[in-house]
Amino acid sequence: MEKITANIYDGAQAASVVVADKIAEQINNAEAEDRSFVLGLATGSTPLGVYRELINRVRKGEISFKNTYTFNLDEYYGIGPEHPESYRSFMERHFFSQIDIPPENTFVPDGLIPRSDLPSYCKSYEKEISEHGGIDVQLLGIGRTGHVGFNEPGSSVDSITRLVQLDDLTREDASRDFLGKENVPLYALTMGIQSILNAKQIFMLAWGKSKAPIVSKALEERPTLQIPASLLQEHEEIEVYLDRPASSELTRVKQPWTAGEIAWDDKMMKHAVSWLSLKSQKSVLKLLDKDYSEFGLSGLLASKGPAHKINIIGFNSVQHTISGWPGGKPQTDDETRPERSTPFPKKILFLAPEPQDTCLSAGATIQRLVQQGHELKIAVMTSGKNSVPHEETEKYFSFCQKIHDLSDLQEKLLQGLDYDKLDDEIKGKIKASLRRAETLSALKILGVEPENILFLDLPFYENGRERNYLPTEDDKRVLSSTITEFQPQQLFITGKDLEPSTVQSICYEMATDIMNDFSTEDWGKDCWVWLYESEKQIFNLGEIDMAVPMSPLEYANKSKAVFQHHSQQDQTPPITSEERLTWPLKSRSDILHAKRYDSLGLAEYEAIETFVRIRL
Ligand code: F6R
Repeated sequence: MEKITANIYDGAQAASVVVADKIAEQINNAEAEDRSFVLGLATGSTPLGVYRELINRVRKGEISFKNTYTFNLDEYYGIGPEHPESYRSFMERHFFSQIDIPPENTFVPDGLIPRSDLPSYCKSYEKEISEHGGIDVQLLGIGRTGHVGFNEPGSSVDSITRLVQLDDLTREDASRDFLGKENVPLYALTMGIQSILNAKQIFMLAWGKSKAPIVSKALEERPTLQIPASLLQEHEEIEVYLDRPASSELTRVKQPWTAGEIAWDDKMMKHAVSWLSLKSQKSVLKLLDKDYSEFGLSGLLASKGPAHKINIIGFNSVQHTISGWPGGKPQTDDETRPERSTPFPKKILFLAPEPQDTCLSAGATIQRLVQQGHELKIAVMTSGKNSVPHEETEKYFSFCQKIHDLSDLQEKLLQGLDYDKLDDEIKGKIKASLRRAETLSALKILGVEPENILFLDLPFYENGRERNYLPTEDDKRVLSSTITEFQPQQLFITGKDLEPSTVQSICYEMATDIMNDFSTEDWGKDCWVWLYESEKQIFNLGEIDMAVPMSPLEYANKSKAVFQHHSQQDQTPPITSEERLTWPLKSRSDILHAKRYDSLGLAEYEAIETFVRIRL
């Protein structure tokens, strides 16, 4: 199905090494032939691993950028090179300042060119590229809209460098960098699709599950203006590199039976039957032989058929994921239940990479576990300060000042100072306090007492910034002692399969490393690890191991708890019905899961939270 066959790697790191190898080889070849090399660059999280690899090689003396010219794809319009979120600053921070490239060899579009000069400026950017001999290798990420550079849906094949308006989803994705979507520029300068197609070779990269849907469309559908990346299918020298999660929606991965013979174990049958049921819009128990053959599942029919036999197996395995006892049901046969019945009650630890995570994806389950008498603790791993907009903090800051004035205190520490004049450290502290208050009130609604909430404030987050978090042994030490002191029997964590620079992914890696370190200890062997969804991740039906249904009242209560994380919501409410309140979207996936279970022919619930068991 893939018009461009993707290279799939276990992780982004492994893929980045291969891409860096290829670039390094071309740089050295150019040097051996005494010619310069022209590299097209992208910003964002995706190329960071490649940049780190290339920096290492420069440090080891394996390559030099002295003879390389770089051209960046794009720049936000309306902000200058000194702005911390400009792509010029990004490139300096993550790459240029750490390699030996002469500053005059680096080209990034200028976001401050007056509008009237834009046509000639854009032409001159293109001319500069061609005067340097054209781009030898263009590095690309892909946006969730399918954009490459900032060529949003609708961009034409023959577009060149120009001013564009950013898509709403693209601005949402950039909102964490700018602390709020309203602060993300509306416009950008970008090289066009034609400018990208002019490159001699293209490496397009994508990591993490949130990219999977758009990657499969870009590679498998006919080229269409609606998915700009699909227009690159016509390039003869394009290579696509994916990690496993980003490849998960490709047909050969999602429906592996289309790519040849496969082994039909229970897990694969559950996956295939639920896929077929959704695809054919028939409940599982109504599927016929002909449905299996028509949708390419004759292999399954041949090895496990007839249909009604497969239907029962598939139906039961999905049915068995449903449980109102997420910590196990005491004194019952647990053979077909997702969790063990003993010990009961259990010691349960929820790890929340960011303060809102547990509430968003497992709020109703937490409430249930507390009600069922388990000893439950929640460890909030980071303060969450880096995603609080200034507008929100300023509001609380001025509120505190008013309180101060009222109480006529002698030490009016903050009195009179404008929020803007505070230094970043104080602002960070105010933001962290704000997030603590939100977390406490959200978890209170779910029945969790403050003494069972631990705030770890891991240093990697306190000292880092978005897309640039570097965990160290200090982080691991803090987390490790939290886990080992409690010795939980259930550990809930999120962040698997996400783009590697996200806070959730970093926290997941750390937590699973620690669990692996203790896998031979009795408590470690005894602890079941459960993955809960993260903000931009919705589990496929086939992969779910536990589905915790909730009543309308429980769903309403969870929504109330979610709503306490006020600083994480869009600061501008939607104006038209087409605009979405983006952040609480996650809790709508609970409804989606319930609808899916219903359409398979299972019980109809208001909402469902879902979990995947991780076997380390
Ligand atoms: C950045 C650029 C964009 C990004 C894309 C993916 O220069 O041109 O097309 O490559 O938005 O962004 P990340 O890598 O942050 O997911």
